[in-house]
Amino acid sequence: MKVDHVGVAVRSIDEAAAFYLAHLGLVEVRREEVPQQKVRVAFLADPADPGGTAVELLEPTSPDGAVAKFIAARGLGMHHLAFDAGAVAGAVAGAMELLRQKGRPAIEAAPRAGARGHRVCFVHPKYCGGVLIELVGG
Ligand code: CO
Repeated sequence: MKVDHVGVAVRSIDEAAAFYLAHLGLVEVRREEVPQQKVRVAFLADPADPGGTAVELLEPTSPDGAVAKFIAARGLGMHHLAFDAGAVAGAVAGAMELLRQKGRPAIEAAPRAGARGHRVCFVHPKYCGGVLIELVGG
């Protein structure tokens, strides 16, 4: 699977995005709120390849959400690595099942709604060498 995006926990999308836009030449390709995950997210990408690997900035919208708790415990910075499971319907569920069979179950029992209209699930860092892995797709 190719890397779809890298998730970065921030306090303010506007403040964090300024660095990537002004100093690394990225552009903001999408911004939305994901109420189920209690975050507002912005996807930043290379303007020459707006559908390519992105940086996802994650700003908590509530202190009891997973990203807010992450920031409280570990500070700002890298949060997760997301892989593209494929756009076909059921792709995330299929990839999830393969990982479960290999002893690396997702946190969720089934894929849930994520940003950009995708289905997503997360696999706990304890199963992935310390990295929170997201599967994203159909
Ligand atoms: Co993500």
